[in-house]
Amino acid sequence: MKKKLLSVLMSAAVVASLLAGCGAAAGTAAPAADAAPAATEEAAPAADAAADTAAPAASNGKKVAVAMPTQSSERWMHDGANMKEQLEALGYEVDLQYAEDDVQAQVSQIENMIAAGANCLVIAAIDSDALVNVEAQAKDAGIPVIAYDRLLMNTDAVSYYATFDNKGVGTKIGEYIVQHCGATPDAPKTIELFMGSPDDNNAHMLYAGLMEQIQPLLDDGSLVCKSGQLAFDDNNTLRWDQQTAMKRCEDLLTRYYADEDLDICACAYDGLSYGCMSALEGAGYTEANWPMITGQDAELMATKHIISGKQTMSIYKDTRLLASKCVTMVQAVLEGAEPEINDTEQYNNGKIVVPSYLCEPVPVDKDNYKEVIIGGGYYTEEQLAE
Ligand code: BGC
Repeated sequence: MKKKLLSVLMSAAVVASLLAGCGAAAGTAAPAADAAPAATEEAAPAADAAADTAAPAASNGKKVAVAMPTQSSERWMHDGANMKEQLEALGYEVDLQYAEDDVQAQVSQIENMIAAGANCLVIAAIDSDALVNVEAQAKDAGIPVIAYDRLLMNTDAVSYYATFDNKGVGTKIGEYIVQHCGATPDAPKTIELFMGSPDDNNAHMLYAGLMEQIQPLLDDGSLVCKSGQLAFDDNNTLRWDQQTAMKRCEDLLTRYYADEDLDICACAYDGLSYGCMSALEGAGYTEANWPMITGQDAELMATKHIISGKQTMSIYKDTRLLASKCVTMVQAVLEGAEPEINDTEQYNNGKIVVPSYLCEPVPVDKDNYKEVIIGGGYYTEEQLAE
C-alpha cells in the first residue's frame, strides 16, 4: 500500500517535473500522464493538465509496444514518457507498460503485447536473458524488436539497439575518481565499489570502463579496497536495488572501516548512492569525513545532493535524446527508413552483433550542473531549489 502510494506520488511528481522541465526543450510532455499506470485518481489533475497541451497526431494505424523495467527509478519514468510522446507525435498508437522489476511480469506483458497485435516491440529488459523465448515468439509473428538502453542478450530477434556508451559511463566515473580523489601512494585513499545488476549487460560494461581507469591506482597503492571486493561477482547489486546496496555498505563499514574512514564510494547508479548515504549516516559519518560518492542518471534528487555536497558526481543521460534515436529505429523497421547507427562492433549479444546508436554520457558535478542540466532544459532551477 505504502509502495503504491509512493509510486502514485512519484508518478505525479515526475509528470510535474516533465511538464516543468523537459517539456520546455522536448516539446509538450502530455503523454507522461499515461506513462504511469500506477497513477490513478491522485494524478488525474496532472493528466488533465497534460492532455490540454498537445493534440495527438492522427493515428497511422501502427501500434508500438514499449516494455519498461520499473517506475521506482526516475530515469525510466522519463524514458517511458519521452518514448510515448515522441511516438504519438508521429501518429503511432503506444502501449507503454512497466513491470516493476518483476522478471516474470515483464515476460507476461510482452506476451500480451504480441497477442494484442503490436507492430513493433521496444524493450528495456529487467533480465535480458529471461526474454529469449518471448523474443522468438515476436520473431515468429513477424514483429520487429528494438532493444532500449539495455542489450537483449542471446537472441537474433533484435533489429537495433539504442543506448548510451555504457563502457564510457564507467570510464567517465573512473576518470572522475582518478582526477579528483587526490590519492597518491604516500597518501592513499580507501575505496569500495557498488556496481549494477549482474543480469544487465550495461553493468558489466560500466565495471570494465571503471576498472580500466582505477586499476593503475590500485596497483600502485594509491587506492586501497579494504574489503578486497574488487571482482564484479563480489560487488554487484541485483536489480540495482538501493536497499541491497545500503545493507552491503553497512556491512563493509562494520567489518573493514572501524578504524579508518571509507573515502570513496564508487557507485554505478544514483539509487545505489542513496543506499550508501543512508549506511554512512547510520555509521556516524559527517561532513568532516564524508566520502566522495559517484552515481549515474543525474536523478533530480541526486542533482540536489550534488548541489548540497552529499553526492560528488553523477552521469547525465539525456533520455529525450535516447528516445529520439530509438524512434528513428522504430520508423526504420516499420516504414523502411534509415536509422542513424554509430556502432556496429561493440554489442555482440551472444548470437549477433546488434547495430547500435550510442548516445554520449556526460559527467556532472557542482561545477557544471548548471550549464549541462539546467542549460540543457532537463531540470529547472526552481525544481532543484525545492
Ligand atoms: C541503465 C542506467 C540505470 C540502471 C538502473 C541501467 O541499465 O543504463 O542508466 O541507472 O540501469 O536502472
